[in-house]
Amino acid sequence: MTTSTKSNIFIVSILILSVLGCKNPKPNVKLSETVFDSKVDSLMNLMTLEEKIGQTAMYSGGWSVTGPTVSTNNKKYIKEGNVGAMLNVYSVKGTRELQKLAVEETRLGIPLLFGYDVIHGFKTIFPINLGLAASWDLEDIEKGSRIAAEEASAVGIHWTFAPMVDIARDPRWGRISEGAGEDVYLGSKIAKAYVKGFQGDDLSKHNTILACAKHFVGYGAAQAGRDYHTVNMGEGELRNVYLPPFKAAVDAGVETFMTAFNEVNGVPATGNSFIYRDILRDEWDFKGFVLSDYTAIFEMVQHGFAVDNKDSARLAMNAGIDMDMMGDVNRLYLKELVDEGKVDVAYIEDACRRILLTKFKLGLFDDPYRYCDEDREKEVIYKPEFLQAARHSAAISSVLLKNNDEALPLSSEKTIALLGPLVKDKENILGNWGAAGDRKGKAISVYEGIQEYLTDSKIIYAQGCDIETDDESKFNDAVIAAKKADMVVMVMGEDYDMSGEAASRTNIKLPGNQTKFIKRIREAVPNKKIVLVLMNGRPLDLSEEDTLADAILETWFPGTMGGNGVADVLFGTYNPSGKLTVTFPRNLGQVPIYYNMKNTGRPIPASNPHEDYKSHYLDSPNTPLYVFGHGLSYTTFEYSDFKLSAETIGMSDSLTASATITNTGDYDGHEVVQLYVHDKVGSVTRPVKELKGFEKIFLKKGESKTVSFDLKVEDLKFYNSKMEFTVEPGEFEIAIKGTSDFDFEHVFTLE
Ligand code: GLC
Repeated sequence: MTTSTKSNIFIVSILILSVLGCKNPKPNVKLSETVFDSKVDSLMNLMTLEEKIGQTAMYSGGWSVTGPTVSTNNKKYIKEGNVGAMLNVYSVKGTRELQKLAVEETRLGIPLLFGYDVIHGFKTIFPINLGLAASWDLEDIEKGSRIAAEEASAVGIHWTFAPMVDIARDPRWGRISEGAGEDVYLGSKIAKAYVKGFQGDDLSKHNTILACAKHFVGYGAAQAGRDYHTVNMGEGELRNVYLPPFKAAVDAGVETFMTAFNEVNGVPATGNSFIYRDILRDEWDFKGFVLSDYTAIFEMVQHGFAVDNKDSARLAMNAGIDMDMMGDVNRLYLKELVDEGKVDVAYIEDACRRILLTKFKLGLFDDPYRYCDEDREKEVIYKPEFLQAARHSAAISSVLLKNNDEALPLSSEKTIALLGPLVKDKENILGNWGAAGDRKGKAISVYEGIQEYLTDSKIIYAQGCDIETDDESKFNDAVIAAKKADMVVMVMGEDYDMSGEAASRTNIKLPGNQTKFIKRIREAVPNKKIVLVLMNGRPLDLSEEDTLADAILETWFPGTMGGNGVADVLFGTYNPSGKLTVTFPRNLGQVPIYYNMKNTGRPIPASNPHEDYKSHYLDSPNTPLYVFGHGLSYTTFEYSDFKLSAETIGMSDSLTASATITNTGDYDGHEVVQLYVHDKVGSVTRPVKELKGFEKIFLKKGESKTVSFDLKVEDLKFYNSKMEFTVEPGEFEIAIKGTSDFDFEHVFTLE
């Protein structure tokens, strides 16, 4: 019997079984009531235990390296029916070849899932996620991930391991670059935008892909910002800060979750039934499936939580981890563990059922090759409208941190000295997790972007220094260039590998001798304007640079079209509107530092920051260099006429807060209007400020607009010391501002 005949028999038997609606085994999980439930159950009835275990294993095709190398024999495992999914394989040809093995050379022909890290673009790379977040533009974030899904699905990818929704407040942690920053409210909104963008409104369409909320949970709170390090926090902090963005992803319909590498209060996430069974399944009723992170299951041996790899397989499956990424422990040990009574076969069946249901939702049983379309692969990648969208995202993600004496926007009449190691860069500009992005020349450098605005005669280029060395041999050429020019633009920052996974830094200043180089240029041209353009994957300590540069533009790593987007901001084609979603400290000693901290019992009085016996440092202010929500424009915005619909509300009421924003400057521009509250007294202490709403508006110069926010009592809830999600009567301060740096002036009472 040929394999294709076998698979045809298989498909016919599925159809017959599903029509006859054979006796469904009592599922151990409440499956999402979908049309596929009976088909899944019919298929499950045909499967052996080994085949069910096979669905819970994922292996890497090695087209990208995203973790420690583990030797595997993928094609052999696939043909044995021991693989449910592959990662790090992309292209129609590559995925079709492996899919053919699964569909045509296994007993039941169950198709594979193909997953990949499409974090901020597949080929058309968008700004890194910390940059995208700084746009506060949920529509644009959704659009960018929709484009990423279009490109990824065109090369056979069914599933992205994104969004990363880890709250992060430590700039030493390299993965702060992958998320939305420090705030729960904003992070939750952005999580939903990504899920909607990747998954669209119909997973059965061939241009939608599964999303994956990661890394569940607490990964961003790694001690000392050191990747994979220990996480200890009270359940209140977990529930009030780190869980909400994941809950938001579940509410948005995310289909999969990924475990975090870290332990949470002594129990590695990948073996933690409290977070996976009690919270994710029982409290949140999540029906998708959970994937371990890369070899995270057997890493529980290193954690000192599992005796050996077999024990780690037991712990993970019992904790509710449905699929083993690259650990090869499910394939090797789960059958034994069932035979030994150490793993309940029902858990394996639950896992298998969830994975099969997802494959049915994607339409892979109708057509396993539906994402393998060579024509689409050719026509979709780098579509002009995708590149244009990436250019726009690069512009709106940029944050103008400083702009003294209107150093920006640049004039095309001026000759500029264009200095720095990242001026002509086309590699780092993509940032970390650059997927299949082209680092060999496709990206538009800042130099090329500026060339669209300035003739070459008005650009004097000198590299001046390296990203990371102490070599000063190129300084002098740069000094000469600066002296010849009318003003200076310096493009500096980090290497893209200095952030992302396993890329923590104990020093968050500009690497190498870049700061020394900036000082040298400042000394050489004390009266010329210096504009500092930054590419970096984390908040940096810019205390020195802030004294040296007249203007500072944070562009993160702005992606494939970064040079154009950045130049559009530098020359005022796009008036910068980005706002920080993560605090920039004055120094590492302040870390962790974030806007919504607690007041303490001895806060420093504004009137006397050095008053004794108060919570301050001997050698630094408490305030950061740049706060959450900070970002300048080429115009100015005035906030006035703050109003509340009531001074007092009851538990069943809502409150409308409004303010009028006026563009009082000389440029049309966007402004991110932010709503903050402060719960003054609680049964547990509450943050001094909490973002509870925002709206990005556009105002022509001179134009005014009244922005209103409807605040519901539900929006004020938090977890108290008994882990009750509750709201308590009392006074709340409230404000509508363009930054988190303000003092409250208005109060309402909740009775
Ligand atoms: C990595 C990362 C995770 C990624 C996965 C697959 O170790 O932690 O974010 O999705 O492996 O590449």
